[in-house]
Amino acid sequence: MSETLTIALSKGRIFKDTLPLLAAADIVPVDDPETSRKLILDTNDPTIKLVIIRATDVPTYVRYGAADLGVAGKDVLMENGGEGIYEPLDLRIARCRLMVAGLPGGYEGARRLRVATKFVNAARAHFAAQGRQVEVIKLYGSMELAPLVGLADCIVDLVDTGNTLRANGLVPWEDIADISSRLIVNKASMKMKHRRVQRIIEQLRRAVDGG
Ligand code: ATP
Ligand code: PRP
Ligand code: MG
Repeated sequence: MSETLTIALSKGRIFKDTLPLLAAADIVPVDDPETSRKLILDTNDPTIKLVIIRATDVPTYVRYGAADLGVAGKDVLMENGGEGIYEPLDLRIARCRLMVAGLPGGYEGARRLRVATKFVNAARAHFAAQGRQVEVIKLYGSMELAPLVGLADCIVDLVDTGNTLRANGLVPWEDIADISSRLIVNKASMKMKHRRVQRIIEQLRRAVDGG
């Protein structure tokens, strides 16, 4: 009987988009996290479990070894730092862009810019690299509202179709980074469970490459 492997995923788009990739690696969950209240999901393989956690918590579980593998957005990895984990594979799912956006007009006036975002570290790093003085206001969601009510001059947020920006009268100001989800691996698991972890990485790689 081989040791258990735990894979950390978040509900919603990451779970949905990861499912077909996992299926290609012969990993099929028994329960659906959208309808089940279980946080540990069994799979067809009794030695592989899925844990369902908030997207921003995935790197934490993997760093501490509570999960051997995980799927996390590059935005989350940029924001929380990728120390203590390997990032062997771009899964090319949940693709979007991290952008600066605001009301039409863009950067104007010399006053210190107020930036609302949940990506405070990524935002600070971006504006620091430009030598731009900013005040960063931490929010936990609905960033698009902030410029409309005068809380901030602009936001740093994820943009996919641009529908959320448009619906709120905002426009992109600047691109910060292309985002997609990455497979991440605990460093000790990569050593101690090397054969099994490597096999999953290779199966997922093949699925991502379309074969
Ligand atoms: P929570 O719902 O727990 O607050 P969240 O909003 O970060 O967390 P998701 O919306 O599922 O959770 O986002 C998970 C990941 O998917 C993000 O980290 C990002 O990489 C990517 N993502 C977020 N929004 C989009 C989008 N509109 N289009 C494509 N990918 C996205
Ligand atoms: C994300 C993101 C933007 C929106 C961008 O929100 O925070 O608000 O998608 O996508 P679009 O350009 O296609 O409109 P999400 O749908 O994840 O909602 P959330 O506030 O629950 O995170
Ligand atoms: Mg979201």
